[in-house]
Parts: sequence; structure tokens; C-alpha cells
Amino acid sequence: MINPKDHKQIVFFTGAGMSAESGVPTYRGKGGVWSRYNYEDYACRAAFERDPEKVLKFHELRRKAALKCKPHDGHTLISRIEQVFPHVTVVTQNIDGMHQRAGSRKVIELHGSLWRLRCPDHGISEDIGETYKSYSCEKCGGWLRPDIVWFGDALDREVIREATNYIGTCDLFISIGTSGVVHPAAGFPSIANANGALCIEINPEATPLSYLFNKHIREPAGTALFKLFPQFQQQ
Ligand code: APR
Repeated sequence: MINPKDHKQIVFFTGAGMSAESGVPTYRGKGGVWSRYNYEDYACRAAFERDPEKVLKFHELRRKAALKCKPHDGHTLISRIEQVFPHVTVVTQNIDGMHQRAGSRKVIELHGSLWRLRCPDHGISEDIGETYKSYSCEKCGGWLRPDIVWFGDALDREVIREATNYIGTCDLFISIGTSGVVHPAAGFPSIANANGALCIEINPEATPLSYLFNKHIREPAGTALFKLFPQFQQQ
């Protein structure tokens, strides 16, 4: 059992496995998004430039799927810890917004969000719903693209800086449900490790980064979080 009071700064670092129990498919492995769709056709800048409508429709399918799912008790447990201990940050690779739907407020989205669109000239707009309100910018009429970090895109510098600050100063780092193969996010556990944080990996499977963790919980996210924080389980 972990008492958040014993820690000055806690980071939950989450990947697709965090949302798996909500029914959102992971990216890799059996049934993963990239086993069904070729990312070169749907999740890179070249695909968008070739056929923006096809890429936007693919993301609408993912929005529909995400809206059918609800945050699970593990998401809620993390938000409940944050309500009591403000020194908690979620750094997520997920674009599904589940942490926010569960009530987490301090969420750094490394890879963007399914719920935003971006015009290269007129900035980012929120767009929530199964389908996008419009595929084109109301100011210039140009194509809007999902505000998501695709393969080959650089992460937003400010987002990396903020995440690195929290991870570089945390004394408890809990990684949940990431395969640890996509950079730069895959480099974050080594920052926490080098800084002497207690590093815990929650993942039913070992990952290439497992050696960086002091403790491994080979269970699904929800079960593992209840084991670590039984005092935050909903009555
Ligand atoms: N609880 C915890 N972990 C789980 C669960 C679960 N219930 N189910 C699966 N996992 C683990 C898998 O063992 C795997 O290691 O979650 C991990 C999911 O890995 P990926 O599908 O590769 O997802 P992720 O690491 O988040 O991918 C990183 O890759 O395609 C890009 O931008 C996309 O953000 C994504 C990035």
C-alpha cells in the first residue's frame, strides 16, 4: 500500500493499457488499432495531405468508439487521489480524454487529443461529439486536422518541458499500460529512475523499459491501482 502523503510529487504516466478496461483498444498487440489499420494511411502527415477526408473520418470512428466507453474505477481512483493531494500529475500518451472525464484536472496530454482540431493559421479549437462539426476552418476554409501527434510529428515543446519538469522532480512514478516503444515518451521512465524516484510499472506484460522500475505489478490497471491504493477504493 502506498500513502500519497509520503511523497512530495507523484506522476501517473499512462498509455493505452490504462484505457483498455474501459473498452478502448490499445495500439499494439492482438486487436490493437495498428493491427487493423495501417498508420501510414491514417496517422501521419503524408496521409492527411493525400486524403484529409479519409483521415478525418478515421478519427471520427475513434471518437465514436471512445464515446461508447466510460472511464473505469482506476481512472476514478487517480482523480480521487488528486482531489486530496494536489501534488499529483497525470502525464498521458492517450488522446481519449478518459482521465479528464473521470475528474482528473492536472493532465498533460503528450500526444494531443481526439477532442480538438487545428488550423495551421488559426489555431486550435475544441470539438466534442461523435462527428466533427466541420472539416474546414470557419476563418479561412482550409482543412482542419486533428490536434494529435501522428507518426513522424514532433511533440509540442512546451508540453515536453512541462512533463519533463514534473517527471524530473517526482519521487513516485507510476507507469500504467504503455509498451514503452514510442519516443520521446518512452524516455520518461529513465528520467524518473535517474532522479531516484520510486518507479512502479503496472502492466500485465513485461516491456523493454521494465528494468528501470523498482516494482512491477503484472495485473490490469484497475486491479493494480486498487492494490496500491486500497484506501482510495470507492465504498
Ligand atoms: N492494464 C494495464 N496495461 C495493459 C492492459 C491493462 N488492462 N491491457 C494492455 N496493457 C498493456 C499492454 O501489455 C501494452 O504494453 O498496455 C500496453 C499498450 O501498449 P500500446 O498499444 O503500444 O500503447 P501505448 O504504449 O500507449 O502506445 C504509445 O503509440 O501509436 C502510438 O500515439 C500512439 O500514444 C500511442 C503510442
